[in-house]
Amino acid sequence: SKPKVFITRHIPREGLDLLKEQVDLEIWDKSEPPPYSILLEKVQEIEGLLCLLTDQIDQRLINHAPHLKVISQMAVGYDNIDVQAATNREIPVGHTPGVLTEATADLTWALLMAITRRVTEAEDYIKQGKWTTWQPMGLLGSDFVGATLGIIGLGRIGRAVARRARGFNLNILYSQPHRLEVGLEQELGVNYVPFEQLLKESDFISLHTPLTEKTYHLIGKNELKLMKETAFLVNTARGGIIDQKALYDTLKQGEIAGAALDVTEPEPLPKDHQLLTLSNVIVTPHIGSASYQTRSKMAIMAAQNLLAGLQGQPLPNCVNY
Ligand code: GLV
Ligand code: GLV
Repeated sequence: SKPKVFITRHIPREGLDLLKEQVDLEIWDKSEPPPYSILLEKVQEIEGLLCLLTDQIDQRLINHAPHLKVISQMAVGYDNIDVQAATNREIPVGHTPGVLTEATADLTWALLMAITRRVTEAEDYIKQGKWTTWQPMGLLGSDFVGATLGIIGLGRIGRAVARRARGFNLNILYSQPHRLEVGLEQELGVNYVPFEQLLKESDFISLHTPLTEKTYHLIGKNELKLMKETAFLVNTARGGIIDQKALYDTLKQGEIAGAALDVTEPEPLPKDHQLLTLSNVIVTPHIGSASYQTRSKMAIMAAQNLLAGLQGQPLPNCVNY
């Protein structure tokens, strides 16, 4: 008989097509994620789990899954999964790196441009009937040319952001635990600096690190204090990298110029959250990889990882083996 698989939401057809002949598929048919209690029940039966970043795959869940052979996450980030617990049970965990790099870098630029040139604020201004004439001093933002972009985490997505930055004639700084080879730095046109220097010298700061114990609240009160009053912060990585309370206080006091966040803590961000009261904040609902082409590639990759795991083969993209 075919192996039982649970998919925690509808995913693009290109992924499902790869699976439907091969496995006994159950798809959670709602637009909201399955509650934890349902997941706990489902995993008792299945050999394969195809999950999303909205699912909490913790030790308890993993230990409730006696037949589970593979966890395949349709995302590059996997901070929602207790990988150690999976490894302890010799369960490979798959993810989808690479295919969403360009889409996420594109959205980073959309947010950076929108926050620095006040695009969403300007649109609101019109919709509120405030556009009475062209204003020589109204809705002024900041130029890119000659400014300095600081990239925290120069991995796949950080590099794609850096490549775009060169077209805008920005100076590019980066910071991360390990320096890249000089040849690669030169090719990307980036300069390695210590974290504090990046915070102090950048006009725009963009976060591209995974969320781990080390990066949790990496940007807090002290780091925000080091930033320029005119600086903008962009986050398309994970909400938990920023201490949002500290960010709110900093923005409220005018100690940085603005922030654009595609990721928040928690997600969804409650409608009445204090950050949403500020005009110099843009929040989007975690749409970094949300293009038709990219989501379809992610679904295919997740399906391939899942099938490999069910067959006892190495996963094409595995985080723990
Ligand atoms: C999205 O945030 C992802 O990790 O793929
Ligand atoms: C602006 O529209 C200009 O013509 O300077």
